[in-house]
Amino acid sequence: MAKKDIEEIKEAIDDDSKKKRKKVDDEVKEEPSLTDLPGIGPAVAAKLESAGIYDLMSLAVMSPTTLGDIAGVGAAVARKAIQAARNLLDLGFTDGMEFAKKRQNVTYVTTGSKSLNDLLGGRGVESRAITEAYGAFGSGKTQLGLTLAVNVQLPIEKGGANGKTVFIDTEGTFRPQRIKQIADKLGLNPETVLKNILVARAFNSDHQILLLEKVAEMIKNGEPIKMVIIDSLTAHFRAEFAGRGQLADRQQKLNRYLHDLMKLAETHNLAVYVTNQVMANPAMMFGDPTTAIGGNIVGHASTYRMYLRRGKAGSRVAKLIDSPNLPDNECVFWVTDGGVVDEE
Ligand code: GTP
Ligand code: MG
Repeated sequence: MAKKDIEEIKEAIDDDSKKKRKKVDDEVKEEPSLTDLPGIGPAVAAKLESAGIYDLMSLAVMSPTTLGDIAGVGAAVARKAIQAARNLLDLGFTDGMEFAKKRQNVTYVTTGSKSLNDLLGGRGVESRAITEAYGAFGSGKTQLGLTLAVNVQLPIEKGGANGKTVFIDTEGTFRPQRIKQIADKLGLNPETVLKNILVARAFNSDHQILLLEKVAEMIKNGEPIKMVIIDSLTAHFRAEFAGRGQLADRQQKLNRYLHDLMKLAETHNLAVYVTNQVMANPAMMFGDPTTAIGGNIVGHASTYRMYLRRGKAGSRVAKLIDSPNLPDNECVFWVTDGGVVDEE
């Protein structure tokens, strides 16, 4: 059954992207890269990348001396490149009206639970933002993802964003059957809902990174993607960079990935939901001795960060952690056949 479902999804994706390929979205401009700058060829760009400078922004804020040292170019060339990066980026101020207009476009996707929506500021998972759920196995991270994958398809007045979902599955936990069940409970056509979820299995961290480019491409080709789910964000990174000495490399790669994710969310006004595992924190004597993988890197990049755990009698508890504009509250929700809800 599952195999057949996956085939169906593959066909649907193929079919759809063929149809949409012709349509070009003018709004989406190609992001300039390092090699677009004067004096920066592929060799210099490679040097910069190995020093952790991947994008124009990182270069634009450097001093000519530092850039010269890293890239092995003269001060004059470095200065010219920095100036060009600043010009390309249009580094400056946006007036309040412009800013407000951008915010106006923000969309929300209901989690299925009013109290969980409230915890996240009132209307659920927000576009132009990364929402992270971390917690132990079985805490509901994937179930919330599957629910969001369905709910984003609802019309705006019903708490959706009238869009499709990209589901990047690193652990093989995507269950078409669950999607159908959740859709059914909402009174939606399960087949249609499934067709609107573009699933990709990421086999390693490089593949996971590459898939983001595919997402941008699909959007350019006209796919109305309003939600990107990554389940799990960190598992591959954690497995591949297991040694003590590799921690810095892992964090750098993860940092870059999160940066790309945020850019995707902002450029296309879509919501990003990521799940994250926990590890035991032996330094913690009291309370829940668990810490999110990826530490501060992930914490700082996530706009909203929730800690999920099992509560009483099969309920789930979500706690909001370190939100810049919301209080650190807790709430209770349930995972049912129909996905995430307020009450069993
Ligand atoms: P890991 O990926 O292992 O770290 O855990 P997770 O946080 O992603 O857990 P997940 O979201 O998969 O939650 C699994 C739990 O959800 C199960 O133990 C069940 O309690 C519940 N659940 C999953 N499917 C169903 C279902 O069809 N009906 C009901 N009622 N509950 C379900
Ligand atoms: Mg899971």
